[in-house]
Amino acid sequence: MPSTQSAEPTLAMIAAVILAAGKSTRMKSKLPKALHPILGKPLLRFAADAARDAGVVRTVIVVGHQAEIVRETLGPEFEYVEQHEQNGTGHAVQMAESLLHDWHGPILVLPGDAPLLPAEALQELIAKHIQSGAAATVLTATLPDAGSYGRVIRDPNNNSVRGIIEAKDCTEAERLIQEINTSVYVFHPPRLFEALKQITPSNAQGEFYLTDVIALLSQSGHIVQAHIWSDAEIVKGINTRRELVELTQTLRMRVIDQHFANGVTIMDPGTTYIDADVKIGQDTVILPFTMISGVTDIGEDCRIGPGARIADSVLGRGVWVRDSHVVASEVGEDTKIGPFANLRPGNVVGAHVKIGDFVELKQTVLGDHVSAGHFSYLGDAEVGHNTNIGAGVITCNFDGMRKHKTIIGADGFIGTNATLVAPVVIGENAFVAAGSTITDNVPDGALGIGRGRQTNKEGWVAKSRLEQGAEDQT
Ligand code: UD1
Ligand code: MG
Repeated sequence: MPSTQSAEPTLAMIAAVILAAGKSTRMKSKLPKALHPILGKPLLRFAADAARDAGVVRTVIVVGHQAEIVRETLGPEFEYVEQHEQNGTGHAVQMAESLLHDWHGPILVLPGDAPLLPAEALQELIAKHIQSGAAATVLTATLPDAGSYGRVIRDPNNNSVRGIIEAKDCTEAERLIQEINTSVYVFHPPRLFEALKQITPSNAQGEFYLTDVIALLSQSGHIVQAHIWSDAEIVKGINTRRELVELTQTLRMRVIDQHFANGVTIMDPGTTYIDADVKIGQDTVILPFTMISGVTDIGEDCRIGPGARIADSVLGRGVWVRDSHVVASEVGEDTKIGPFANLRPGNVVGAHVKIGDFVELKQTVLGDHVSAGHFSYLGDAEVGHNTNIGAGVITCNFDGMRKHKTIIGADGFIGTNATLVAPVVIGENAFVAAGSTITDNVPDGALGIGRGRQTNKEGWVAKSRLEQGAEDQT
């Protein structure tokens, strides 16, 4: 999200266990479900980021199906335990005991496939758990039809939580219960790991249920309570492609709403895609058919779109990008790009630059006030400030074996259709004649001209027509 809530200070050190070992067969994917991207982040990162924002200091991820690729993608910021066989949520949490057996603070357990879980809900849950000294606190919600969710069983006398019954194990009466288990809990660690040793797979699915821990703790006299969250949407998980897209749309609109709240105009939310980690400055206007992705930071007063694609880039104040791509590049303030420009990765573009139609840039540095208005390829180049790049100028950066640099000084003029064969250096305040093929350096202040000299043949047209006419008659 563009503005994430920072953690309330808490004295307790909180660890999290995120359950992500499930096979997710219904996704029908070669990619593990945890890694399917939503608004530029792997699905599992939503739970991990919410936990971090709620104050969690240590996160253990239970991996199973394609564990190695999950580990590699999410990286060393997290700890991992492997659940080789997916024998249920209780069994999954048991796997984490090897890493957390001497952890004294509360342990938050949450599913890795529920991206709508807000940090605020986790924060409230943790706070309630700590205040009450409970052995377990479960996050619940109410639904008119609880469907396949686990039902929360309350004690009719004091309303305390007595247990959670899975939908498949419910009696008719229990099925009518509207309070559901969101699969998010906070536990006191010794109680959690003791109770996990007692659970059995004697249920409809033959699995070791984490939910059984609740009844075990309650029966042995520990405090077990629930924290009800008013928005039941948070429980929604992703099991299918349709759910992936539905929740992406929900999150996409939340991101757009956050930008509205920050003073950004997004003219057509229906055709605008903005990733979760994108920052946009005040009074910037985003026009239709625009995608802004990755880690991108757009300044104030910009006009982005229509038809812009910006990825992993930093744009200064007042930048315009119309019908163009800007990827992994930096762009200085008041620079105007497009229509139909293509900034491939690695450019550093100065302020007040003009990049016009069909100009392609790759790993190129442009100084302030450079103008490259039409049909150019600038690759592995450095261009000093105020230099004009004429229409059709090409840096020939590749010799078939390797790439070479073109360096162009400040205040220069590169004439139309010049080809600059790298490696080559054009000095400051130098001038390259239109149509030149430049293979040698041009000194400061010099004119470089490299083309056949023009000759005019007087009367040639009439003469040649006469010759052609004569041929036609034979
Ligand atoms: C679970 C809860 C249910 C709750 C629901 C909310 C149990 C027994 N039931 O049911 O009460 O209403 O979530 O969505 O916990 N996982 C593993 N290893 C396993 C099994 C699951 O890591 O062996 C992971 C899954 O990848 C998933 C999470 O645990 O991220 C939840 O598992 P899932 O199978 O979706 O549980 P539900 O049947 O939905
Ligand atoms: Mg589920």
